[in-house]
This record gives sequence, C-alpha cells and structure tokens, in this order.
Amino acid sequence: MNKNLRKAVIAGNWKMNKTRPEAKALLEAIIPLVANAKDKIEVIACVPFTNLETAVAVTAGSNIKVGAENVHFEKSGAYTGEISADMLSEVGAEYVVVGHSERRQYFGETDETVNKRTKAALAGGLKPIVCVGELLAEREANITEEVISRQIKLDLADISAEDVKKAIIAYEPVWAIGTGKTATADQAQEVCAFIRATLAKLYDNATADAVTIQYGGSMNAKNCAELLSKPDVDGGLIGGASLKAEDFNVIVQAAVEG
Ligand code: PGA
Repeated sequence: MNKNLRKAVIAGNWKMNKTRPEAKALLEAIIPLVANAKDKIEVIACVPFTNLETAVAVTAGSNIKVGAENVHFEKSGAYTGEISADMLSEVGAEYVVVGHSERRQYFGETDETVNKRTKAALAGGLKPIVCVGELLAEREANITEEVISRQIKLDLADISAEDVKKAIIAYEPVWAIGTGKTATADQAQEVCAFIRATLAKLYDNATADAVTIQYGGSMNAKNCAELLSKPDVDGGLIGGASLKAEDFNVIVQAAVEG
C-alpha cells in the first residue's frame, strides 16, 4: 500500500462552537499560517451550518476548503430542522462529516442512516468524511476489528468504487474523542490498515489505495507528528485542537512534512 498515492487531509471538526464573528476571526488567523500547504495537502474546516456562508466567503482564494458537520439523506421535503446536500453544495460546502460518534451516541444515528447520508452527500456533489470507531468496551472485549468491519460494510453498502474514492474514512475510536486519551500511533496504524484491507476486499487494491483514511481522537500539536508518520494514517480529523489557529497549524505542518 503506497501512501504517496494519496494526498494527506487535515480537517477541523469545530462541532457546536463559534458564532459567525468568532468563525471569521479563527479562519482569518488560520489562512496565512497554512498557506504553504497549498498543493501539498488538503486543509478543511468543517463548521456549524450557521457558519458555512461566512466560512466560504472568508476562505475564498485560500487553500482552505469548507465542510459541514451533518447532512440529511432526503433531497427535500417535510423534514423540519434538516439540511440537504443540495443546500450545502449551493452554499459552497465541498465536504461533510457523516456518522460522527457524537451523532451516533446522542442523535440516534445508525449504520443505516450513515449509509443513506453518505449516498445523499455523494449524489449532491459533496465529499463525505465517514466516521467509524469502536467504544472502549468493544476494544476491551477484543472486537475492534469486528466492529469496524461491520461499520465499513454497512456504511458503504451499495456505494460504487468510483464514489468511494471521493469519500474520506475517519477512524475515530470513541474512547479517544475529546478525552485527551489518544490512540497510540501503532493502534491508529493497525486499525487504519485494517480499514484499508477491508476496502480492498470490498472493492479492489487500487480503490483501497486511493481512499484517504484519517485518524481522529485527541490528535493535537504534541502527538500529531508520530500519528501522521504512519503509512496508513493519511491525515486527521481534529476536534478541540482545530479551535486554536496555532495548534491546528502545527498539525497541518506535520502533515506537510509527511
Ligand atoms: P477531538 O475530536 O480531537 O476533540 O478528540 C475529534 C473528533 O471528534 O472529530
């Protein structure tokens, strides 16, 4: 498996943080810091719906792409409070986080709805960042691979090889998210490699080699270099550390270094 076949992707996941003026200020601080990453790696800010228009305007002409944090699976209709892929594309979002563990944990997201959202995102011209990851109890029961394999198979069901190459998979062990407990670089590598092997079985080697697989879960300025040096860790989905321009930039620079 050849890492050079894929561009590294560092994506911030802002979660439910930042008003519009705060979003503008944070992006204006990040833009000059990461300008040197242009053409080397992909830098994305996934922001709350209310910040999308601001983020698209502020990042215009920069090398930062904008993503949303969720998308509904229907095209339009009586779904009060929901946002469609077409709406996100129209506002200028290029990416969308799908199936984040916080959505699975607090908002009833299932593998079935993750699959529907992933398909809707692709149909609407968005690149989905599909999140998978095991709970602490599942890791302790030695069923991490079983859990990840099931999530990958169900979340990507009926998605073509051509489409899956547009997706990013984020491996986010639930026990590492927002807890300060990072997976070791070896643990992250092991599961990212397992995800790639699963993709190779479901599709083929060339497809598996083309898909970007990120690690997420307490990745920060201190631990990013080691995590990103691993052959199957193609980038990061960054929560807390994406809210501070300097910390986010350290992670971007680590990915530029490879
Ligand atoms: P964290 O979040 O970096 O704050 O652990 C990662 C994520 O939830 O995507």
